[in-house]
Amino acid sequence: MPTTVIVGAQWGDEGKGKVTDLLAERAEVTVRFQGGNNAGHTIIHGDEVFKLNLIPSGILHPGNTCIIGNGVVLDPGVLIGELDDLHKRGVDTTSLRISANAHIIMPYHLLLDHEGEAKLGELKIGTTKRGIGPCYADKADRLGIRVQDLLDEKILRKKIVTALEPKRQQLRPWAKDPSLDLHAMVEEFANYGHRLEPHIAETSLIVHNEIKAGKEVVFEGAQGALLDIDHGTYPFVTSSNPIAGAACVGAGIGPTLIDDVWGIAKAYTTRVGSGPFPSEIEGDIADKIREVGAEFGTTTGRARRIGWLDLVALKYAARLNGMTGLCVTKLDVLSGIETLRVATTYSNNEGAVFDEFPYHQSVLHHSKAEYVDLPGWDEDISSARSIEDLPENCRTYLNFISEFLDVPIVLMGVGPERTQIILAGDRALSFARN
Ligand code: IMP
Repeated sequence: MPTTVIVGAQWGDEGKGKVTDLLAERAEVTVRFQGGNNAGHTIIHGDEVFKLNLIPSGILHPGNTCIIGNGVVLDPGVLIGELDDLHKRGVDTTSLRISANAHIIMPYHLLLDHEGEAKLGELKIGTTKRGIGPCYADKADRLGIRVQDLLDEKILRKKIVTALEPKRQQLRPWAKDPSLDLHAMVEEFANYGHRLEPHIAETSLIVHNEIKAGKEVVFEGAQGALLDIDHGTYPFVTSSNPIAGAACVGAGIGPTLIDDVWGIAKAYTTRVGSGPFPSEIEGDIADKIREVGAEFGTTTGRARRIGWLDLVALKYAARLNGMTGLCVTKLDVLSGIETLRVATTYSNNEGAVFDEFPYHQSVLHHSKAEYVDLPGWDEDISSARSIEDLPENCRTYLNFISEFLDVPIVLMGVGPERTQIILAGDRALSFARN
């Protein structure tokens, strides 16, 4: 049975939740391996809309073991809120397993995230202010609080005191903030530990054993390749590695256990937060795409920046991830646009042309996209269920993408409902049959 890593191929928000949800229907295990509640997945099941930030979307499928891996940074209050909401709606959450090694987002991480952004002023990253960066920083600094620490109040207190010591200066403006009261903090987080204890496990062993037993496992990435801390548009990135290689580190398995990597990309591009975006557009077409595509953040509600499909960046993402399949989502949003522009190279003011994603930040900042224009289509494609149902211009658009990237398209999204998809290719067709 295959193991598949699902990753964002752009700047996040590509519709990974929907694809994971589809695969999770058949898979036996779903694993989150990085990021935290900076991510947000909206999943539509019949009349019900589920918004999940931390719990893998497999939770909506009975019998699916859901894992929050060691690479995730976890805000326990948010996690418990999600568990409570799912209980209220009759979803069984007993299969959730949380790595004892995952790091905990503490109240001071939230304050430091706010403070860091405020200090940067105009240079701000535009973080989700969920404490993600400061939590990963403490992990690297070996000052982090891990899930297992919540289970021993004495250790927890000691570790919090040690973690707070070097931050005293930065946290001075909040010296009296109730969220920083040591006694209350220890009590609150020890209580989270009691509540989460039945879910805490050696998740790396579970994943390993499930794969060895031939189970189908889906690894659910958050954010996207261009937000990767090593390979993205640094410093305008998140603080983890959203690329496929991180699935191994963040779940605790070896790379030889991964069969497939599916990259998810919208039929156009969006970005939230600051940073370079060579194919960005403004004006009527951008407004229309934002409105039709509901391009407002699930986590923060922010309006997303809009751009044409950027194949220079997508080719980079395909390479970084070793993509074996591409899922093109939100194809329906492009209906009714006369001419579709697709970025195939970048150029700068000095006349240089780049056909690979520039590695130098200054070059990237001064790059603008150069386009190939393709004819659009007028038809409503939301009820298309096979490639043959799509208008010819739409098929030409998809072929152009696939040939440019040399990656087969395995899935297309033509509407928000989980049934509004078109599957292609051998692997994908096997899902359709089941
Ligand atoms: P952080 O992850 O909150 O530190 O934010 C760092 C950057 O990543 C900011 O530009 C965020 O807008 C962006 N980001 C983080 N998570 C997501 C996501 O799930 N979708 C899109 N952008 C994200």
